[in-house]
Amino acid sequence: MLYSEKVMDHFQNPRNVGKIEDADGIGEVGNAKCGDIMKIYIKVDNDIITDVKFNTFGCGSAIASSSMATEMIKGKPVAEALELTNKAVVEALDGLPAQKVHCSVLAEEAIKAAIEDYYSKHGK
Ligand code: FES
Repeated sequence: MLYSEKVMDHFQNPRNVGKIEDADGIGEVGNAKCGDIMKIYIKVDNDIITDVKFNTFGCGSAIASSSMATEMIKGKPVAEALELTNKAVVEALDGLPAQKVHCSVLAEEAIKAAIEDYYSKHGK
């Protein structure tokens, strides 16, 4: 089978979908080739990511990657979330087909962008 059970699960029942109205950081990234867009919102308290939500206008792998990536950074220190790699997301999903790896890169980039936004708004 092309997609792992975990990918199918996170695609069909994505976690943390939505928007945080009073987010501390927002990151939006896109992939010019496929046109997919991912937006991630984070809420930070005492340097801990207390809440995270995403909106992904993209393929199933991008949705599964955002779902998994948001689960992986929830409750974590900001500095740790900044180190999340797309490789770790792919591993947590039990793999993605080679032509879908860029979808996981989008998740890594969106999280980094949200944290950068948080840092810039808080003078760090
Ligand atoms: Fe581009 Fe999945 S095909 S994000």
